[in-house]
Amino acid sequence: MIAPSLLSADFARLGEEARRVADADWLHFDVMDGHFVPNLTFGLPVMAAVQAVSPVPLDCHLMIEEPGRWAPGYAEAGARNVTVHAEACTDPRAVARDIRAAGALAGLAIKPGTPLEGYRDVLRDFDTLLVMSVEPGFGGQSFIPDVLDKVRTARRLVDAGELTLIVEIDGGINADTIEQAAEAGVDMFVAGSAVYGADDPGKAIAALRDRAAA
Ligand code: DX5
Ligand code: ZN
Repeated sequence: MIAPSLLSADFARLGEEARRVADADWLHFDVMDGHFVPNLTFGLPVMAAVQAVSPVPLDCHLMIEEPGRWAPGYAEAGARNVTVHAEACTDPRAVARDIRAAGALAGLAIKPGTPLEGYRDVLRDFDTLLVMSVEPGFGGQSFIPDVLDKVRTARRLVDAGELTLIVEIDGGINADTIEQAAEAGVDMFVAGSAVYGADDPGKAIAALRDRAAA
């Protein structure tokens, strides 16, 4: 499954950009607060406006401090999935409970340097695991292959029935890197520059799906 990231879209035409990827699985929406990451993007009012016209369910990736305070609002606004960063949460389980109660799937994101080990139990309360394959903050960075060990571990736990998770990867995914990520066991591939940087985003999505299945 492919989730184009609106971070690489034209911010002056967000509605049209959402409609250009109508055959995607989810539309990835990167919320940055200028504190948890050194960049600032968009928040809840913009998400709600995009949600209202998007043909594809929204996948909100909150790169913000105090995510518990804001995450349920994105679920209430109609997001399919709301992901918070493990590094920013004091009580991830409580945040997951609130997101689910507000009607969305709950996701836990881990930065490239954050080990999976400490979160195995916590992940029982989540629906998606977002493995970051770049340092969060900016699109267009190079893929960090070392994180695939975490993907393999998560895949094994899911396949063994110990966890029920959609395994998602985010950062540096393109036609060259997607195969190794698919092989490691990723279910959902976020791709920003590889989709919106292409002349035809629909074709780019189809090409990524082909490479992932190869
Ligand atoms: C980075 C964001 C990513 C970003 C990926 O912090 O979380 O979702 O849009 O962009 P690419 O695919 O260009 O690496
Ligand atoms: Zn993201």
